[in-house]
Amino acid sequence: MRAKIIGTGAFLPPGVLNNEALEKMVVTSDEWIVSRTGIRERRRTTDNEASSDLAYNAAKHALKNAGLKPDRIDLVLIATATPDMLLPSTGCLVQGRLGIRNVPAFDLNAVCSGFIYGLATADAFIRSGAYKSILLIGVDTITKFTDYSDRTTCIIFGDGAGAVVLQATREKKGVIGSRLYADGTKWDYIHVPGGGSRIPSYAAAPSDYYMIMKGHDTFRVAVRGLEQAILDLLKQTRVSLRDIDFIIPHQANTRIIGALAEKLKYPMEKIFVNIENYGNTSAASIPIALHEAVAGKRIRNNDLVLFASFGSGLTWGASLVKW
Ligand code: UT7
Repeated sequence: MRAKIIGTGAFLPPGVLNNEALEKMVVTSDEWIVSRTGIRERRRTTDNEASSDLAYNAAKHALKNAGLKPDRIDLVLIATATPDMLLPSTGCLVQGRLGIRNVPAFDLNAVCSGFIYGLATADAFIRSGAYKSILLIGVDTITKFTDYSDRTTCIIFGDGAGAVVLQATREKKGVIGSRLYADGTKWDYIHVPGGGSRIPSYAAAPSDYYMIMKGHDTFRVAVRGLEQAILDLLKQTRVSLRDIDFIIPHQANTRIIGALAEKLKYPMEKIFVNIENYGNTSAASIPIALHEAVAGKRIRNNDLVLFASFGSGLTWGASLVKW
């Protein structure tokens, strides 16, 4: 059995935060942000929008495109680092809102690598025969944990959700393989210190709820990690890079994507980039990009598509899918 992606969907909150608006909040410039990151604008949720709202809309979109009613789903899996609340899981909130009953739902947190970790998990469940139709959503609302007086983080992140419906198939299509990695010794590269059991609310200062990032250090390990994940996965699946039709990398920084293309000697025209419009949407970035690539007919039947991601944890990984 293989896990085939039979539908994709995305949802971006309507509020746009462009570089000009950020110039009024911190000492920065549109020129600096575009040349150092490739980002022109990103979406930002309002006080009334939480991760489950974005996830629900992306899920409805993916289910519609898959031609599947919610009651055909037998597992709801959400990749997020920014749940609506500490408990219950955002998976349960979305499952309830979709009206699906008596099927498991849970969250998985691998931050920006959440979609790849989620895809590998869904694939394993389908290959084992445990579930046949899985709804996998990548969603994050990092702007809720962003300090808009810190120019090193506030220019990068945006909010969004992307979803896929995976179904068991005997066709030679779907997820071929995945590689997952983590290095917990570098947990402090990107973290939000407060709100958990280490610094609970009664001990936290307001600033403890904001993300702290060692951007430059992360940049260097990101390029190495992405390259390692891709080369290891190609070796594991015995596929040559020449045969890869399309790469969808995590949208963290165009310079990271450019450096990766250069290291791999892979043409930029075959790498999907939409960071200009949304910034870094963490676990949502790959499924949003995938949905746009599918909707824009950039991916064709039988194409070999490679996903690769990197993020807080540190976590990184790659997945190979035959479309
Ligand atoms: O989702 C995955 C996890 N996250 C990432 O992958 C992020 C990876 N890192 C990055 O994308 C980049 O490191 C950043 C975009 C965060 C920063 O770019 P950089 O080229 O690595 O800049 P830097 O941190 O080395 O800083 C260079 C200079 C510094 O000034 P000095 O010390 O040289 O005078 C910074 O203070 O740029 C300054 N700077 C800014 N200037 C204008 C930092 N942020 C800004 C800003 N506007 N927003």
